[in-house]
Amino acid sequence: MKRDITSLLDLTKEEIVFLIDKAIKLKKESKKKQTLSPLQGKILALVFEKPSTRTRVSFEVAMYQLGGQVVFLTKDVTQMSRQEPTKDTARVLSRYVDAIAMRTFSQELINETAKWASIPVINALSNKYHPCQVLSDLTTVKEFKGQLEGLKIAWVGDGNNVAQSWINAATKLNLRLHMACPPGYEPDADVLERAKENPNFTLTHDPIEAVKEADVINTDVWVSMGEETRGKKKEVFKPYQLNLELLSHAKSDAIVMHCLPAHRGEEITDEVIEGPQSVVWAQAENKLHLHKAVLEWLVGSEPKK
Ligand code: CP
Ligand code: NVA
Repeated sequence: MKRDITSLLDLTKEEIVFLIDKAIKLKKESKKKQTLSPLQGKILALVFEKPSTRTRVSFEVAMYQLGGQVVFLTKDVTQMSRQEPTKDTARVLSRYVDAIAMRTFSQELINETAKWASIPVINALSNKYHPCQVLSDLTTVKEFKGQLEGLKIAWVGDGNNVAQSWINAATKLNLRLHMACPPGYEPDADVLERAKENPNFTLTHDPIEAVKEADVINTDVWVSMGEETRGKKKEVFKPYQLNLELLSHAKSDAIVMHCLPAHRGEEITDEVIEGPQSVVWAQAENKLHLHKAVLEWLVGSEPKK
């Protein structure tokens, strides 16, 4: 049966752990410079409605390094821009390529594509979720901390797509996730409703409470792609800036994470992102290894349920 990653809700706890461990293994193997081509002859279509540096390049490089190829499309160069029904596009692409990775505004577009495609569909970011980002971020936490369980993981800032995928991951894995968002910028109600299954999740408006004694601190932009005209009030977010003062409340060996791109002086200061606790470059690299793990699992010959 084909599988999709439209959100982390598509995966079991065991599958999430499997993908993280596979990414860590692939990272180690990548240093040996062996050439294996498990995806030879396979083609990934990338359909992107929004800009991307890391996600696009790491998916493309992942395919090439696994022996496969890619077709990169923006929505406006396809008939999707002229209202061809998603169910038609999904079925046609399924006849040409072996998987689709999509970056969209609407989560529904990804869900609808997955429903009609006979090939795996991967969410490469929507307004609602960024599941592969969080899978690779979990890989980074495990790489630096050796474990996921028992750690205090903090999120400070907007309750956005990345935050919402962190909540899903924490619910699946029962992680200790402590989130601080400004009033009015909390995650969506349906995401918070599901988070009630996780007694280790808390949501506060107090950034110090969230980062106090934390092992891992995450932040992200205050204004996500597509929200530029929503006029988010930067004043409201100021207390949530990840600066040296806020960081001082975390454990002294806490790691600082940001999925990038970062806006220095807004959600994070230059001192913190360039400081000794920042792991953002390894975090960005791990998207490549995690995408390889995802592609091998979804498109390769590994058994899937
Ligand atoms: N973190 C991330 O998804 O970056 P890009 O927008 O550059 O792909
Ligand atoms: N929340 C950000 C993530 C960028 C990778 C956005 O959606 O723009």
